[in-house]
Amino acid sequence: MDEKLKIITHYKKKIKILKEHNHYYHNEDKPKISDFEYDRIKKELSSLEKKYKYLKDLNLSLNTVGAKPTNKFKKKNHLIPMLSLSNAFEKNDMKDFVKKVNNFLNLSDEKLELFAEPKIDGISASLIYEEGILTRGLSRGDGIVGEDILDNLKTISSIPKRIMGEEVPELLEIRCEIYIGKKDFIKIKENFANPRNAAGGSLRQKDPNVTSKIPLRYFAYGFGAVKPMIFQTQSEFLEKIKKWKFLTNPLSEIVNSLDQIEKMHKKIDQLRSSLNYDIDGLVYKVNDLNLQKRLGNTSNSPRWAIAYKFSAEKALTKINDIVIQVGRTGAITPVAKVEPVTVGGVVVSNATLHNEDEIERKDIRIGDTITIQRAGDVIPQVVSVELLQRKKNAKKFIFPVNCLCGSKTKKELSKSTNKHDAVRRCMKGYDCKFIAKEKLKHIVSKEAFNIDGLGKKVIEQFWNLKLIKEPSDIFNLNYREIRNLEGWGELSINNLKTAIKKSQSISLDKFIFSIGIRHIGQENAKILAGFFETIKEFSKLFDFNNRKKLLINLVDLDGIGETQIHSIDNFFLNNTNTRITKELINKLNISNFSIHNNKGKFSNKKLMFTGGFKNISRSEAKAIAENNGGKVLGSISKKLNFLVVGDSKPTKKKIEQAKQLNIKIITEKEWNKILDS
Ligand code: IVH
Repeated sequence: MDEKLKIITHYKKKIKILKEHNHYYHNEDKPKISDFEYDRIKKELSSLEKKYKYLKDLNLSLNTVGAKPTNKFKKKNHLIPMLSLSNAFEKNDMKDFVKKVNNFLNLSDEKLELFAEPKIDGISASLIYEEGILTRGLSRGDGIVGEDILDNLKTISSIPKRIMGEEVPELLEIRCEIYIGKKDFIKIKENFANPRNAAGGSLRQKDPNVTSKIPLRYFAYGFGAVKPMIFQTQSEFLEKIKKWKFLTNPLSEIVNSLDQIEKMHKKIDQLRSSLNYDIDGLVYKVNDLNLQKRLGNTSNSPRWAIAYKFSAEKALTKINDIVIQVGRTGAITPVAKVEPVTVGGVVVSNATLHNEDEIERKDIRIGDTITIQRAGDVIPQVVSVELLQRKKNAKKFIFPVNCLCGSKTKKELSKSTNKHDAVRRCMKGYDCKFIAKEKLKHIVSKEAFNIDGLGKKVIEQFWNLKLIKEPSDIFNLNYREIRNLEGWGELSINNLKTAIKKSQSISLDKFIFSIGIRHIGQENAKILAGFFETIKEFSKLFDFNNRKKLLINLVDLDGIGETQIHSIDNFFLNNTNTRITKELINKLNISNFSIHNNKGKFSNKKLMFTGGFKNISRSEAKAIAENNGGKVLGSISKKLNFLVVGDSKPTKKKIEQAKQLNIKIITEKEWNKILDS
């Protein structure tokens, strides 16, 4: 065995031992070795990593084992879900954001007041105060259910345990970002990849004493549940909680225009390196909380806020190879395999080349020296080629016309632009094994079946071992075989079984999203689920004739256009897709789509809108109806209870149809009255 291999084998063996002892210590509460012995192994690993730098590239380093969080925390529901933020990367994205907000609120050119705050790159947590006393502390978890980490949060001395002050609401949920100061991080550097990791590891330690040894800090940035609601604006909220001794970020400011947004961005970007905490951009929030309430949320993120990321960090490296990846929609993406290089604290060895045109435009070749950039969690990209450093014999890259499965790829004609797509696609769907594998990764993802312990890497492993080929195989796993695999023990197998079993109960909208019809994202899946209501109705799409009839009805659904309808038709035209969907349904218990709020003014009622309203946009009207328990349909049918007619240019034909079917017609005035009552 050569020397390097020997060292790696030894290192891996020690990591395994440490992992086992972590398990005994953290998960079983039964340590089998003394603390001294444990520390000795850790020290040895640490010095090995220092001496042989290549060990760190194995990504097994101590941070993943030394501070392994446990799964022993109690799970608790958040009072209000903790969402994520959508991202902006340039001025135009911010322009779009402001425009969208104004459109939704039906504000024309009024100045929109935004509140800009640094986006702290830490770990989010929620602090609940009842009668001013800190009674609950949760990690974000999946946004709906968090983990009870109150004892650990209590070790952070700057978090108020009891709020002293005036006007403190009976119930106050403070959302905050926990971080480790950059200076403190230097002291514990060997054990963690970056400050964010360290904060996460520390916060989720089973033993609060361990947490208390790592200096955690926080900034409060928002609220969840508040009773009674006493704040009018985000800026006022922060001022008030600052008086109550919460730590808020001092760099936050009100901005009123795109120019001010840009100015603020540049200013903070320049300060960035001098701050004692990592930030990766600024969060811009609509300052008026009433407007925030009107704007509400989409599936994952509020409509009233956006994270405007700082421009990417760059690095110089070399292209060793160009390979092709196949995505779940068949998109063929060229990827540059580059000489590993650190960009913004992360080792990068792949960079996307987007598509054939991009390679052509930038004339990117194997062997080239290139600049790559990485922004946030987005895959690194190639920015430019250093042509002067190109070797004379470097050959132009010829883009393959076949997929990895061997079949011909195609550039589709876009229905909306009537131009050919820049992206080549394999059209084989599940019949291409590379697409099938990606589809599986999508199915198990957080937004879909959300199966803990069955992530991308495990799917890759199970796929290679032919343990899973198609979605329904997830529910027929051969656990005996898995038990023999490295890294799988009784505990992890039991956890996997539980997670898979749990995922078998799924709502119709998530199911529709999971099967991965192109152009049907989470929002569209919800709209479709609202239309079909039950899996039985949805299953009618499998039959050619039924499908044609159903698809015609989808035309009027708000949010569903020709592109989506065409895509649904195409999906079920493919027999393999239909078979796989049917087999999957057989394994599941799919609940009917129900609107969460069934207590509102339109509870269980079906509405349709025609014509524009004076003060609110159609999107807001729709959101209001839904928040009041109603369901918005896109076409007139007997099912409809109300046709709401806005004053501005309603469609006469729709009113006529509604009258013929005896559907109650509500005028704009009446609509306002109902909502005010
Ligand atoms: S506001 C989504 N403000 O970023 C609900 N978030 O990507 C509104 N974060 O989970 C979030 N600094 O953990 C907000 N000033 C700030 C923030 C901030 C950091 C984190 C937070 C959230 C994540 C969303």
